[in-house]
Amino acid sequence: MAKKGEFTVTPWEVSGNVDYDLLIKDFGSQRIDEPLRQRIKKLAGGELHYMLRRDLFFSHRDLPWVLDEYEKGNKFSLYTGRGPSEHTHIGHLVPWFFTKWLQDKFNVPLLFQFTDDEKYLFKDKLTRKDTLEFSKENMLDVLAVGFDPKKTRMIVDTKEIATLYPHALDVAKKVTFSTAKAVFGFTNDTNIGSIFFTSIQSVPAFLPTIEKGKPVPVLIPCAIDQDPHFRVTRDVAPRLGYPKPAMLHCRFVPALLGPQSKMSASDPVNTIFTTDAPEEAAKKVMRAFTGGRATVAEQREKGGNPDICSVCQYLNFLFEPDDKKLKERFEDYRNGKILDGENKAYLAEKVKAFLKEHQRKREQARPLVEKLFEEK
Ligand code: TYM
Repeated sequence: MAKKGEFTVTPWEVSGNVDYDLLIKDFGSQRIDEPLRQRIKKLAGGELHYMLRRDLFFSHRDLPWVLDEYEKGNKFSLYTGRGPSEHTHIGHLVPWFFTKWLQDKFNVPLLFQFTDDEKYLFKDKLTRKDTLEFSKENMLDVLAVGFDPKKTRMIVDTKEIATLYPHALDVAKKVTFSTAKAVFGFTNDTNIGSIFFTSIQSVPAFLPTIEKGKPVPVLIPCAIDQDPHFRVTRDVAPRLGYPKPAMLHCRFVPALLGPQSKMSASDPVNTIFTTDAPEEAAKKVMRAFTGGRATVAEQREKGGNPDICSVCQYLNFLFEPDDKKLKERFEDYRNGKILDGENKAYLAEKVKAFLKEHQRKREQARPLVEKLFEEK
């Protein structure tokens, strides 16, 4: 649990101005450095995803081991997921697009977990029906991202609990209440389902090994808020005879209110959801917090600050994959050549085009999702 006064990062709360260097120290993960980036690039066929080039994926656990095994011919499995408590927002797409890139470049399978049980337990207002319904809705987004259906297995916890439960018990038996309290900050008021939950999120990290009957490296790409779960998973792994899952951590896309804000359903005005009407999302962009100055004259003279500007950061994280174009835009913004209105309009067009296409792919996926839910 990272709670440093200035900021908080837990799987259920991200707030304040996150100091990522401090977080690496506090969580005990490793920085992704240049030699490691170059190694990934070589193994990925000579190309590096912009999220690695820009240090958006910035931290890892045991990645060199996964790459060593890969070089020996022991391919890894990918594992990531979604807690279905609301519609997908564009921040969620960051680890998913990156996971898709890994799946394509390394030609590896993916396990995608929907933790409807987690969201039911942790969100007072949500019913089990709600979280199951959001699993369906969120699954449309996952499929719209374009994962290879032949290499992707999706698990909705309450639907496939029979697969997960025996192994969750093995995990739960090795985790004490005092560990759960220390890692997650649980108190006497926490419901007992929440205390158990991390065992369920651990299981997909072990399933490839369990099902293949031999050690399979697992790599988990996610934002760094999920790391506490997997610290527990990694801690119990050797005691259950499984390899520790490796991790790749990304930074958080802020809400439109600026670097200290968090996207969520409770702040829909400042959060772009994949289900927003494109025009509505464009309006949200036009109202965003920026790194600009009080007046046009001042901004022309002194320039803006792209580091704290939501608009610039949305381009950085998702909407301007071309490094050269991004660099030029940031420079022009810093020099006062580009003003906020123009920058916002530029992003708004990109967001609109993205949402149109993404929503088309979501609808295309709907019959498959309906079928999957009927079968499960
Ligand atoms: P959830 O639904 O909170 O988040 C889904 C994924 O999105 C990441 N994320 C973000 N990434 C960038 N910017 C943001 N603002 C942002 N907000 C969230 C999360 O880190 C996550 O990768 N318990 C999990 C579900 C889960 C899971 C997993 C996630 C089950 N197994 C394995 C990752 C890996 C959850 O509630 O995620």
